[in-house]
Amino acid sequence: MQESRYEMEVQPLGWWVRSHHCNELNLENVDQHVCLMGWVQYRRDHGGLIFIDLRDRHGLTQVVFTPDANALALEEAHGLRSEYVMAIKGVVRARPKDMVNPNLQTGEIEVEVVEFRLLNKAKTPPFIIEDRMDAAESLRLKYRYLDLRRPQMTSNLVFRSRAVQAMRSFLHDNNFIEVETPVLTKSTPEGARDFLVPSRLNQGEFYALPQSPQLFKQLLMCSGMDRYYQVVKCFRDEDLRADRQPEFTQVDLEMSFADEEGVMSISEKLLAHLFKETMDIELEIPFTRISYAQAIADYGLDKPDIRFDLKLKDITSLVKGSEFRLFAEAELVKAMAVPGGSELSRKEIDDFTEYVKIYGAKGLAWIKIKEDEWQSPIAKFLSQEERSAIGAEFDLQPGDIIFFQAGPADMVNTALGYLRVRLAERFDLIPENEFAPLWVTDFPLLEWDDEDKRWVARHHPFTSPKDSHFEMLQSDPGQALARAYDLVLNGNEVGGGSIRIHNSSDQQKMFAALGIDEEEAQAKFGFLLQALEYGAPPHGGLAFGLDRLIMLMNKCSSIRDVIAFPKTQKAACVMTDAPSHVSAAQLRELGLKLREKPKV
Ligand code: AMO
Ligand code: AMP
Repeated sequence: MQESRYEMEVQPLGWWVRSHHCNELNLENVDQHVCLMGWVQYRRDHGGLIFIDLRDRHGLTQVVFTPDANALALEEAHGLRSEYVMAIKGVVRARPKDMVNPNLQTGEIEVEVVEFRLLNKAKTPPFIIEDRMDAAESLRLKYRYLDLRRPQMTSNLVFRSRAVQAMRSFLHDNNFIEVETPVLTKSTPEGARDFLVPSRLNQGEFYALPQSPQLFKQLLMCSGMDRYYQVVKCFRDEDLRADRQPEFTQVDLEMSFADEEGVMSISEKLLAHLFKETMDIELEIPFTRISYAQAIADYGLDKPDIRFDLKLKDITSLVKGSEFRLFAEAELVKAMAVPGGSELSRKEIDDFTEYVKIYGAKGLAWIKIKEDEWQSPIAKFLSQEERSAIGAEFDLQPGDIIFFQAGPADMVNTALGYLRVRLAERFDLIPENEFAPLWVTDFPLLEWDDEDKRWVARHHPFTSPKDSHFEMLQSDPGQALARAYDLVLNGNEVGGGSIRIHNSSDQQKMFAALGIDEEEAQAKFGFLLQALEYGAPPHGGLAFGLDRLIMLMNKCSSIRDVIAFPKTQKAACVMTDAPSHVSAAQLRELGLKLREKPKV
């Protein structure tokens, strides 16, 4: 690369004003004088000419330094490097036919530089600022501000902004008001651990960061706000995964005088509006609905991906008397047949077997259906009657494979449920550009916590049981169903909500069922119990997981890709180095003492 004889000087912006962004100019602008600003994407020296691709968040424009327009500028331009920040003034020219770039919005023109200013220099970035790059995610996160310059990342954030805009405008048009609720607050139980903030003014006391604004939105209903929404950060100290962050964003809403239909119908209209506005995709309303029990029966999971058909079948009764003890003695035996699946190699089946072990399975039984035999390590244990019964259940054809899981019901459902998704990926059963929203309804109200040996709320303790299920809280808590609903999109939970308990005595009954005695209920939720005594309207709502929605709409594999500054798996920010140690003086002020000296 030819070096400039000039030491490049950074210049001030001065009075220069941008006329266009870098994705705007086309043949209609030819001969216009324009001023562009941005970053140097590439510099190409071409015998006597220098081409620069100038980039901003909108796109690229090719600018060209020529001896005719400004010979001195051409000479100086040899010193421009990738990621330098510059401003140019010049004239829009049509590119010669053979130089047109059909892949660029601005590919038919270039700007001939009359004058330019170097606004800032840049060190060589630690990775190349392009979509195609293979830097480790930890490096991308350390230099997140550079990572976000890459067009894909920029476009994720731009899309997210448009999406929030579309949701806000829908909610505003439908009479919802946006109300902000506190971040320094008291714990709201959503099932995760709280993040705590020590109070300096009240030593020994702590705020909890909200796991959701659940109680505040209910109190706003008690205030007569009628319809509330908020785009709001929630904080949950839980183990992180690709679709979980310790702080994430909900689009949270609550409505008075609404039942399940009311909340679900406005929520699906909101989602349909979002897809239409941002992607021009029509979602069919109303969305498919399925009960929790049906979801578990057919798909093994409470967040089924219904874009493909593979279904699980319960064959417990067919193998009850089997010689195969594993099947005969299991609480539940389920199977799933994959048409054409017998092409799977032994290695692939072994890999699937390892995969289901994540969910507690000890193995994975399978049978390949061949023209003249059932090929399988377990076929010999199955009697002729058992084979015909299984065959009849699945309408098996030569070439199919059938997978079995036997054991405790939860394990069997979860293992086969996730295996189902893996198999669909392996056999390309998932239509690429389809969005299949689904409501899952009729959730159990409570679930048994084996560690604490008590019932806990499946959704949260403010969710109402079905009308006739209140008595069951005493008699048969495990059977009580909730007025709760989850919104599932392509196998991901993207929203959840419920109709709430809106009178104090019912709420106290619920607390009692959860083993929360009156004293504890008063200490933790006294303000809610009181508010419910002053004329609380019937109400319910829902919260969308915004990050997950945006991730799915953009076909990203992690929510980190749609969050500007996300945390790592260890809940750390490698860019700012949070969390970090604090000074002894700060601790003293808060009245805190560490049990162990920090390792610095
Ligand atoms: P829920 O706990 O189901 O309901 O949360 C609502 C939605 O938020 C998303 N979500 C998350 N996204 C990213 N990272 C996380 N750690 C995370 N946790 C949850 C999910 C989920 O569906 N207060 C109730 C709502 C209500 O009842 O109105 C609530 O928070 O997409
Ligand atoms: P074993 O008798 O342990 O060798 O298991 C016989 C077959 O059953 C093997 O193919 C195992 O992978 C499979 N298997 C083991 N445990 C289970 C289970 N819980 N459900 C279904 N198949 C299993």
